Amino acid sequence: MHPNGVNTLVKPIVAMDGGRYPPTSMLNDRSSLLSLLETRRSAKPRELVGPGPSADEMERILTIAARAPDHGQLTPWRFVTVRDDQRDDLEAVLQRALLNDDPEASPAKREKERDFAHYQGALIVLVSSPVADHKIPVWEQQLSCGAAGMNLMLAAHALGYVPGWVTGWRTYSDQVRRAFCGPGERIAGFIFIGHASRDLEERPRPALGAVSRPWRPGPEVQ
Ligand SMILES: Cc1cc2nc3c(=O)[nH]c(=O)nc-3n(C[C@H](O)[C@H](O)[C@H](O)COP(=O)(O)O)c2cc1C
Repeated sequence: MHPNGVNTLVKPIVAMDGGRYPPTSMLNDRSSLLSLLETRRSAKPRELVGPGPSADEMERILTIAARAPDHGQLTPWRFVTVRDDQRDDLEAVLQRALLNDDPEASPAKREKERDFAHYQGALIVLVSSPVADHKIPVWEQQLSCGAAGMNLMLAAHALGYVPGWVTGWRTYSDQVRRAFCGPGERIAGFIFIGHASRDLEERPRPALGAVSRPWRPGPEVQ
């Protein structure tokens, strides 16, 4: 506890200055925690513009991400940050992996990897790192990794950024995996954090009735 009575561990979730990028729509409305959750919208990484979070903001985002629910406290996930000045190295990894997977890759495909490696904003590679042969099933550990990814995105939103989570062939390439993961680990996604370059549009959301229903006990309990 701070001497003046303020609990220094509790930081405001919503940046008070409104940020340098005023909202262009009601999506990602940061006026309250609930409104942000209710209007959250991510973006395609290729449509993000920089700058990404500062070093302090990134530390805060990753600290929040690491507060994911985690059965057994196994921390079955890791965050690998890729610096802006490492994007050429990332491209080299992707180009080598692409040629390995598809020696006939067209110039357009190769260009796509160049673009991907140089998307604007910050890049975090979310790695699933389950503990094998543990009483906590790997499935639960993978769920925890997904929760960490969601926490990471929400933290970025709360700081006024727009994140984008993508996978694609790179996620499943052994060569790319080896560039980010140790044995037994796999890539859960590439999460870019920047600002939307255009007004975001809402996407269809499932009707609650389609994804939620009251439980009716089956015949086995009657
Ligand atoms: C595990 C995972 C993988 C994803 N992979 C891709 C992808 O390869 N390409 C893509 O455009 N979006 C991908 N997305 C992003 C979703 O499509 C994205 O969340 C959605 O389009 C935006 O919806 P939102 O506003 O609810 O976040 C992925 C999301 C998750 C959780």
